[in-house]
Amino acid sequence: MITSIFTHILLFLVHLFSHEILFLQASQSDPYSTNFTTTCWEVERNALLKFKAGLKDPSGRLSSWVGNDCCAWQGVNCSKQTGHVTMLNLRNQPSGDLAPLQGKLDPSLLDLKYLNYLDLSLNNFEHTPIPNFIGSFTKLSYLILSNASFAGLIPPHLGNLSNLCYLDLSWNNFLWVSHLNWISGLSLLKNLFLIGANLNLAATNWLQAVNMLPLLVQLHIPYCNLNDLPPSLRVVNLSSIEVVNLQSNNFNSPLPSWLFNISTLVELDLSYSGIKDTLDNVDAWKNLCNLKFLALSGNDMSGEIVKLVEGLSKCSNNSLEVLDLSTNGFVGPIPPSLENLKNMRYLSLSWNYFYGPLPVSIGNLSSLKVLHLSSNKLGGTVPETVGQLKELSLLYLGSNNWEGVVSRIHFLHLKNLKDFALSSNHVGEKSLTFHVGHDWVPPFSLNSIIVVNCQMDLKFPAWFLTQKELAYVILWNINIEDFVPEWFWKLSPQIELLVLSNTRLRGKLPKSLKFAPGSKVALSFNLFEGPIPHFSDVTYLCLKKNLLSGPIPENFGQDMLYLRYMDLSENNFNGNIPSSISMLKYLEILDLSKNNFSGNIPSSFCSLQSQLLCLNLNDNNLYGKLSSLRNCSKLLQLNLANNQFHGGVPRWIGESLPMLTLLGLGGNMFDSVMSRKSKQPSEWFL
Ligand SMILES: *[C@@H]1O[C@H](CO)[C@@H](O)[C@H](O)[C@H]1NC(C)=O
Ligand SMILES: *[C@@H]1O[C@H](CO)[C@@H](O)[C@H](O)[C@H]1NC(C)=O
Ligand SMILES: *[C@@H]1O[C@H](CO)[C@@H](O)[C@H](O)[C@H]1NC(C)=O
Ligand SMILES: *[C@@H]1O[C@H](CO)[C@@H](O)[C@H](O)[C@H]1NC(C)=O
Ligand SMILES: *[C@@H]1O[C@H](CO)[C@@H](O)[C@H](O)[C@H]1NC(C)=O
Ligand SMILES: *[C@@H]1O[C@H](CO)[C@@H](O)[C@H](O)[C@H]1NC(C)=O
Ligand SMILES: *[C@@H]1O[C@H](CO)[C@@H](O)[C@H](O)[C@H]1NC(C)=O
Ligand SMILES: *[C@@H]1O[C@H](CO)[C@@H](O)[C@H](O)[C@H]1NC(C)=O
Ligand SMILES: *[C@@H]1O[C@H](CO)[C@@H](O)[C@H](O)[C@H]1NC(C)=O
Ligand SMILES: *[C@@H]1O[C@H](CO)[C@@H](O)[C@H](O)[C@H]1NC(C)=O
Repeated sequence: MITSIFTHILLFLVHLFSHEILFLQASQSDPYSTNFTTTCWEVERNALLKFKAGLKDPSGRLSSWVGNDCCAWQGVNCSKQTGHVTMLNLRNQPSGDLAPLQGKLDPSLLDLKYLNYLDLSLNNFEHTPIPNFIGSFTKLSYLILSNASFAGLIPPHLGNLSNLCYLDLSWNNFLWVSHLNWISGLSLLKNLFLIGANLNLAATNWLQAVNMLPLLVQLHIPYCNLNDLPPSLRVVNLSSIEVVNLQSNNFNSPLPSWLFNISTLVELDLSYSGIKDTLDNVDAWKNLCNLKFLALSGNDMSGEIVKLVEGLSKCSNNSLEVLDLSTNGFVGPIPPSLENLKNMRYLSLSWNYFYGPLPVSIGNLSSLKVLHLSSNKLGGTVPETVGQLKELSLLYLGSNNWEGVVSRIHFLHLKNLKDFALSSNHVGEKSLTFHVGHDWVPPFSLNSIIVVNCQMDLKFPAWFLTQKELAYVILWNINIEDFVPEWFWKLSPQIELLVLSNTRLRGKLPKSLKFAPGSKVALSFNLFEGPIPHFSDVTYLCLKKNLLSGPIPENFGQDMLYLRYMDLSENNFNGNIPSSISMLKYLEILDLSKNNFSGNIPSSFCSLQSQLLCLNLNDNNLYGKLSSLRNCSKLLQLNLANNQFHGGVPRWIGESLPMLTLLGLGGNMFDSVMSRKSKQPSEWFL
C-alpha cells in the first residue's frame, strides 16, 4: 500500500518534471554539449530552421544557424532554467552593410511557445500582413516589428498578448486598423509605438482604448492620420503616462482638457497636429510640473503665452527643458518670467508675431543651447545678456525689427556657438549695426553665419580667419566695400553655401574656386571684375550683376556636372557661349542675358534628356540658327530678345517646345509676319 502510494507520488512527480527530465535526456544525447544550458529543444530547433527556410538571407546573417545547439545561434537566446527559446532578436543594423532578411513569417514559429521577446525590425517582409498567429505567443513581453515593410490590417489578434509590455509596429508601409478595441487587452502594456500606421478608422475610440491601459508610460502615435482628439474624458486612467506623442495628425481641435490632468506627463508633442487654440485662458499648466518637453509648433495657435510661462513657473522644481512654439500665430511680448524656467535647453519661438523687446532676463537661462527667435516682430536692441549664455550653440535672431548695435559683448561667453543668424527688417536710419571690430578674436568657432540687412564695419570681417569650421556663410545686403582677402577663398573646399550678395565687394576673383561637393554659391550684386574663375562642384551659381568680363572658357562646364542653376547675367562677358554648357544635363535654369555674347547658340545645346526649364539669352549679340534648341523640350521660358537673330521664326517652336509659357523674340531681325511686331518686344512675351 505504502509502496503504491509512493509509486503514485513518484509518477506524479515524474509527470510534473517530465519536461526537465526529457530535456536532460535531450542534452545528454547531444554530442556537442556537456551542459544542460547549452543546447536546445528539437521542436524549437526545427521551428527556427523552417522559419529560416522561408526567408532570403543575402548577407548570410543566419549562417550560424547550423548544428544542434540553437541556443547558440545568432539572435537566439534560451532560458537558462528550461532551455526554451525565449528571445528571437533578428533586428538588422540600420546603416550596416548587411542586407535585410526578406520574405514571409513562417507559422512554424508558433512552436516557440516560450518566446518572450521578438524583434524582427529593419527587415523586409515584402508588404505581407503581420500574421494573425503572432497573437498566439501568449508569453510575449516585447514585440518589435518596426521598419520591416509589413502592410495591411494590424491583426486584432495582437490583443491576446496579455503579457505584452512593449509593442512597436512603427514605420511600416501601409499598416492600418479597423478599430483599436483590441488594445485594451494589453493590460500590462507600458510602451506603444504605432508611428505612421493609419489609425483613421479608430476615430475617437483610440483614446478610450488607450485609456484602458493603466500601466502605459509611452504613447507614440504620430503620423497616424488621426482626426479626432476628444476634448474631455470622464476618468483619466493613464496614471503612469510620461510620453504622449501625437504630432503630425490632423485633429483640427483645441487642446483637450484631460491632458492637464496627467501630472505625470514628461513629454508632450502636439506639433503639426492641427491644434486650433489660444493659451490665454489655460490656467492648468501648473499641473504639469514634470513636463520636460513641450512641442506645439506648426499649429493654428494664437494669443499670448504668458499664462503658459507663468503656469509652469509656479512649479517649484519646474523641469521644462524644451519649449517649441514655432510656426503659430502667437502674439505679444516675450514674458520676462521665462527666466523662471531655469532648466530650459531649447527655446524656439520662431515664425510667430511676438513683439516688444527680448527680455534682459533671457541671460538667466543659463542652460540654453538653442535660442531660435527668427521671423517675429521683436524690436529694440538685442540685450547684451545673451552673451552670458555659455552653453548656447545656436542663436537665430533673423527677420525681426531690431535696432541699435550688436557688439562683442553679445558674444562674450558664447564659446560653444556654432550657428548664428542676425537680420532686421528695419532699413535706413533705425537699422541694425553689427559691430564687432576688425581685430576681434571671437570665443567660438562657427559652422554657419547669416547676417542680412545690417550695417557692418566697412571691411571684410578679418575675424572670419579664426573660423576654421565655416560651412554656411550668408552676408547679404551689407555694405562691406572691400576686397575679399585671399585667405577667405582658401576656405572654399569646406563651404557648402556661400552668399556674398549685395555687399559691394570688389576686386578680382581667384582663377579657380573649388567648393564642397553640391555647394551653392552666389556672389551677385557686387563689383567683382576680371575673368570668371574655374568653378568646381557647385550646383547653384549666381554671379549676376558684377563687372566680370572676357570670354567663358570652353571647358567651363566640365567640373560642374551637377549644376542645376547658373545666372551670369548683367556682366560684360563676351565671346561664344561655350559648348561645354550642353554637357550640364541637370541644368534647369540658365541666364546669360545682358552680356555681350556673340556667335551661334552651340549646336546640340540640349540633349534629349535635357532638364532645362528656363533659358535667358536676351540682350547679347547672338545670331544664327535656333535649331540647336529643338531638344530643349521642357523649356517653360525662352528669352532671345534683343540679339541679332534673323530669318524666319522657326515653325517647330510650338511643336518641339510644347511647355513654353514665355517666349521673347523681340528686338531681333526676324522677318515675315513676325517682324512687324518685333518693334514692340514686350508683346512677344506670350
Ligand atoms: C555550463 O554552463 C555554465 C553556466 O552557463 C557555464 O559557465 C559553463 O561554461 C558551461 N560548461 C560547459 C562545459 O559548457
Ligand atoms: C543573448 O545571448 C547572447 C549570446 O548568445 C548574449 O550576448 C546576450 O546578452 C543575450 N541577451 C539576452 C537579453 O539575454
Ligand atoms: C525607420 O524608418 C524611418 C522612416 O523611414 C526612419 O526615419 C528611421 O530612422 C528608421 N529607423 C531606424 C532605426 O532605422
Ligand atoms: C485572439 O484574438 C482574436 C481576435 O481578437 C480572437 O478571434 C481569438 O479568439 C483570440 N484567440 C485566443 C486564443 O484567445
Ligand atoms: C480604466 O482602466 C481599467 C482597466 O485597468 C478599466 O477597467 C476601466 O474601464 C478604465 N476606465 C475607463 C474610463 O476607461
Ligand atoms: C481633472 O482634475 C480635476 C482637479 O484638478 C478634477 O476635478 C477633474 O475631475 C479631473 N478630470 C478628469 C477627467 O480626471
Ligand atoms: C516636481 O514637483 C512636483 C510637485 O510640485 C512633483 O510632483 C514632481 O515629482 C517633481 N518633479 C521632479 C522632476 O522632481
Ligand atoms: C538674473 O541674472 C541677474 C544678473 O546676472 C541677477 O542679478 C538676477 O538675480 C538673476 N535673476 C534670477 C531670477 O536668477
Ligand atoms: C561687344 O562685342 C563686340 C564685338 O563682338 C564689340 O564690338 C563691342 O564693343 C562690345 N560691346 C561692349 C559694350 O563691350
Ligand atoms: C537631340 O538629341 C540627340 C540625342 O542626345 C542628339 O543626337 C541630337 O543632335 C540633338 N539635336 C539637337 C538639335 O540638338
